[in-house]
Amino acid sequence: MECKDRYILAIETSCDETAAAIIKNGTEIVSNVVASQIESHKRFGGVVPEIASRHHVEQITLVLEEAMQQAKLEFKDLTAIAVTEGPGLVGALLIGVNAAKALAFAHQIPLVGVHHIAGHIYANQLISELKFPLLALVVSGGHTELVYMKEHGSFEVIGETLDDAAGEAYDKVARTLQLPYPGGPHIDRLAQEGEPVIDLPRAWLEEGSYHFSFSGLKSAVINTLHNARQKGQIIEARDLAASFQQSVIDVLVEKTFRAAIEYGIGQVVLAGGVAANKGLRQALSVRFEERSDIELVIPPLSLCTDNAAMIGAAGDMLYQKGVRGHMGMNANPGLEL
Ligand code: KG4
Ligand code: ZN
Repeated sequence: MECKDRYILAIETSCDETAAAIIKNGTEIVSNVVASQIESHKRFGGVVPEIASRHHVEQITLVLEEAMQQAKLEFKDLTAIAVTEGPGLVGALLIGVNAAKALAFAHQIPLVGVHHIAGHIYANQLISELKFPLLALVVSGGHTELVYMKEHGSFEVIGETLDDAAGEAYDKVARTLQLPYPGGPHIDRLAQEGEPVIDLPRAWLEEGSYHFSFSGLKSAVINTLHNARQKGQIIEARDLAASFQQSVIDVLVEKTFRAAIEYGIGQVVLAGGVAANKGLRQALSVRFEERSDIELVIPPLSLCTDNAAMIGAAGDMLYQKGVRGHMGMNANPGLEL
């Protein structure tokens, strides 16, 4: 039987990174190119959708060419083209989807649509074999979810945020502290320098719930700052950052741990931009230390924030399952996992 390597060209443009990558057999990064637009959005304090779309249009062909050149491959060598179909900013997603469709049509290559969060989870397949049943803690700018997977391609959301995503809370608190966008890494850095001495709430919700809520915590941080300012008191930004981060981490880590035990999980994986958080990575490692029966997988920082390599890993899995996109594929900002 012929055993041929699979090469997936992957494209990701759901938010503010224009990215293309080539993944071999679902596990090996052959090339991985990311053009970030953060500098352009910084002065607005967040991602401006119109600007994001324009940057994607400018960057997409350059990024694709670079990914192909680095891999030293030609289009005829590709097994499939995978692209983020949603969720995300519709105008941003459209650039990637149309680039993928154009290439698939011109070179007669199969097309595979990928859910952005499936991509974040499959980033872990680029560093470790996925073992089921698996639990993924997904923490990004738009999502905070605990996802149970009994097998490849099966995603059951057992808990999610009822209001703000963890990354969103990070970015809003950072803005209150007048830190640049995106605020997550700045809070993370400040938190390492401070002490969690300020009492802030933790939303455990009802007994046994795996849902999350971060808007109360965010408001508590903002109120604490305002009250102190009104009274002429000084609150150290680093202590506030450390206290906020501790509240977020306590809840994320404890709920993940409890769910892993309840669901008899063998492997826990971390995913999404907030997975780059030093405090979270360390706290999860410490919490799971006592459970040698549960493997904890944490991707390197470059695979936590948005990239196309993760879309290629998930795209390869979907391709093998027989999933195929078609020329009518559209950007789907509200795509369900
Ligand atoms: O996954 P991602 O790159 O984009 C989305 O799909 O949303 O996540 C971006 C989010 C932003 O909210 C950013 O502030 C946050 O990830 N983030 C962090 C850190 N690095 C990025 N949050 C906390 N600590 C970090 N080190
Ligand atoms: Zn993302």
